[in-house]
Amino acid sequence: MSVRHTESPNPLHQLGAERLREHTARALTRARERSRTLTDAVDDEDLVRQHSRLMSPLVWDLAHIGSQEEIWLVRDVGGREPLRPDIDDLYDAFQHPRADRPTLPLLGPAEARAYVGEVRDKAFDVLGTARLTGSRLTETAFAFGMITQHEQQHDETMLATHQLRRGEPVLRAGPTPPRRAGPLPAEVRVPAGTFLMGTSVEPWALDNERPAHEVHVDAFAIDTLPVTCGDYLEFVESGGYAQSRWWSAAGWEYVRAHEIVAPRFWRREGERWWRRRFGVDEPVPPEEPVVHVSFHEAQAYASWAGKRLPTEPEWEKAARFDPVSGRSRRFPWGDEEPRADQANLGQRHLRPAPVGAYPDGASALGVHQLIGDVWEWTGSDFRGYPGFTAFPYREYSEVFFGPDHKVLRGGSFGTDIAAVRGTFRNWDYPIRRQIFAGFRCARSI
Ligand SMILES: [Fe+2]
Repeated sequence: MSVRHTESPNPLHQLGAERLREHTARALTRARERSRTLTDAVDDEDLVRQHSRLMSPLVWDLAHIGSQEEIWLVRDVGGREPLRPDIDDLYDAFQHPRADRPTLPLLGPAEARAYVGEVRDKAFDVLGTARLTGSRLTETAFAFGMITQHEQQHDETMLATHQLRRGEPVLRAGPTPPRRAGPLPAEVRVPAGTFLMGTSVEPWALDNERPAHEVHVDAFAIDTLPVTCGDYLEFVESGGYAQSRWWSAAGWEYVRAHEIVAPRFWRREGERWWRRRFGVDEPVPPEEPVVHVSFHEAQAYASWAGKRLPTEPEWEKAARFDPVSGRSRRFPWGDEEPRADQANLGQRHLRPAPVGAYPDGASALGVHQLIGDVWEWTGSDFRGYPGFTAFPYREYSEVFFGPDHKVLRGGSFGTDIAAVRGTFRNWDYPIRRQIFAGFRCARSI
C-alpha cells in the first residue's frame, strides 16, 4: 500500500491582496535596512575596496541589488521605463567574475545609494498597483519575494566580505545567544521510508525547490547537533590534516596545495587556538558549531569520525518529516515563521549559538539546529528535482546543476528568515570556506 504524503500550506495564500502587499513591503524594507547597516558601517574608501579577491567591493553588491530590482520589478512586472539601462552589463554577475569587479567603472557610493533608493521608490509604486495574480511572476507576489531573497542573499555575501575585511570591528553584535539547554542523545535514528521532498505550494520557493516529489530514504542515523569547534579540534589535534586516508583525492590535493591545517580564520598560539570573527580575536569556542570549513574538510572529518555527510534527502527528511501525520513541515518546528527562540538567523548574534541552544526549534524527529547557526554541507551534488523547470530564467539555478557544486542546507546566523525554509537549497564549490558553512554527520544503519 502506498501512503499519500502531503506538505503544509503556506499562510501567504490565505492573505487578501492588501495584506499580501503589506507583508511584501515589510520584507523588502527589512532587507533594505540590512543592506544599509552593512554598507553604512564602513567609509567610502572601504566600500569601493576589494577586501578579498573572492568577493566584490561592497559598492558593487549594493548597486547590483538595485539593478536586479529594476530589471524584475520596475521593468518586467511594472512595465515601466528603464532607469539605467546603461549599467545592466556592469552589474550582470555572469559578465564579470568577482575578481575583476573593482576594475569596472562602477557607480560610486553616493551614486549607488541614490540609484537603489530611486529604484525602490518605483518598485513600491509597482507593488501598490500590480495585480498579484495572473502570471507565475506576479502570483502571490513571487517576483517581489524573489527580489527580497536576492537582496538578503547579497546581504549575507556582504556579511562574509565583512568577515574577510581587515581592521577594527565595525559591526555591532546583538545580545549573547542562548546557552545549551541540556544533554541530548548523540544521534537520531530514522527508519526507512518515503517522504515528500521539495515543494509545490510554497509561494516564494525558487525553481530548484520545486516540485514536491516522493523520495524513498533508507534507514539512517543523523547527528542531533552540528559538529562543534571542540569536536573539530580533536580532528585537527589528532593530525587529521596530515593523514591522506581521511581525504578524497580532490580534498587532499586542495589542502596540500593551499597548506590548510585548520578552519579558515583559526590560528594557533602556543597551546591555544584562536579565531578572528568580524575583527575580534577570541579563543575558539568549543560549544559552537564549527564554521568556515570547506566541503572537503567536512567530508574528511566525517570519515575520521567513522561517519559520512548526510545526503540532501536525508537532511530534508530529518528537518521536515513528521512521522505521526506523514506530512512535510515548512520548518523543523512546524509551519510558523522562525522565532528568535527557535533559530539563530538574521545576523542577530553575529555568531553561531552553542549547540543545544534551541530546543524549541527541534524537528519532529528530534534533530536540533537544522535551521540557522551554520549552513550545513550535504554529500549531494546540486541537481534539478524530477519535473524541474527553470523559472524565471536558466541562470537562476539550472546552469549550476552538476557535480561541480555541492548542496548546503538550513541557513546560517547570517541568513534572513525570508531566505531560508525547510526546502531551501544553497549550493557552492566544495573548496569554499569564506561562507558561514559547517556540517553534521550521518551514517547508514
Ligand atoms: Fe545577484
